[in-house]
Amino acid sequence: MGDAAIIDGKAFAEDLRARIADLAARFEETAGRKAGLAVVLVGEDPASQVYVRNKGRQTVACGMESFEHKLPAETSEADLLALVERLNSDPAVDGILVQLPLPAHINEQKVIATINPDKDVDGFHVVNVGRLATGLPGFVPCTPLGCVMLLKDRLGSLSGLDAVVIGRSNIVGKPMAQLLTAESCTVTIAHSRTKNLPEVVRRADIVVAAVGRPEMVKGDWIKPGATVIDVGINRVPSAEEGKSKLVGDVDFASASEVAGAITPVPGGVGPMTIAVLLRNTIVAAHRNAG
Ligand code: GUN
Repeated sequence: MGDAAIIDGKAFAEDLRARIADLAARFEETAGRKAGLAVVLVGEDPASQVYVRNKGRQTVACGMESFEHKLPAETSEADLLALVERLNSDPAVDGILVQLPLPAHINEQKVIATINPDKDVDGFHVVNVGRLATGLPGFVPCTPLGCVMLLKDRLGSLSGLDAVVIGRSNIVGKPMAQLLTAESCTVTIAHSRTKNLPEVVRRADIVVAAVGRPEMVKGDWIKPGATVIDVGINRVPSAEEGKSKLVGDVDFASASEVAGAITPVPGGVGPMTIAVLLRNTIVAAHRNAG
């Protein structure tokens, strides 16, 4: 292993959750009820089931109410939309999260468009996407916001830095680029069609990898001293027969020889997502109650 500092997202997320628990206690005192997060899971995707269980536990541990709605995979779009409408008008529910991906027969955009933007703690509704693009207050997707928190904790001001975001998804790549632009970075969005990707990445003071390709970004793509944020969570076979392990989109062994700082997988960006979700929920509670 090289000299890179390891960015401890797990510890940062624990700290953030402790601060959220204080805010949740204060909310309960003034509002006379707990802040509430509703999570909707359709179907039995194993990864989604794990996330939803963790979300529920951490919501309760922070002193908030968790409402879990687990629906069978064959749930109709109409029934799901009706549930979202009910949650929109339920005063005990401050935040609504519909776990993605949804089964193929359900139109995801239609479901997201039905969520009240002021309860859209995922920041996926076009109103919140537009608010972020315009610089208006709204909800920002949890994973990219968590990445920016880690970057600012590490680097202080990001102003003037060259940032390369690899990946252009609605959940991570695009909002990440918006947030870094708002922090006055010079932002490049790279993706599967980008020419000379290693060369593009080598220009970056900040690299954010969110492509879902195990260990794609190599150490010789990294500018010495750069800060590397690895959003990838890829399950791959491990050396041990019949076992698997989690790796990021960055080849940690070679990248940590060159980078100034790097997030590990697991224990880097991953734990930040739920912590930021809880942050968004307590913000929603205060806004909706006040
Ligand atoms: N699936 C993977 N990540 C997410 C997320 O942040 N929010 C939702 N709703 N679904 C996801």
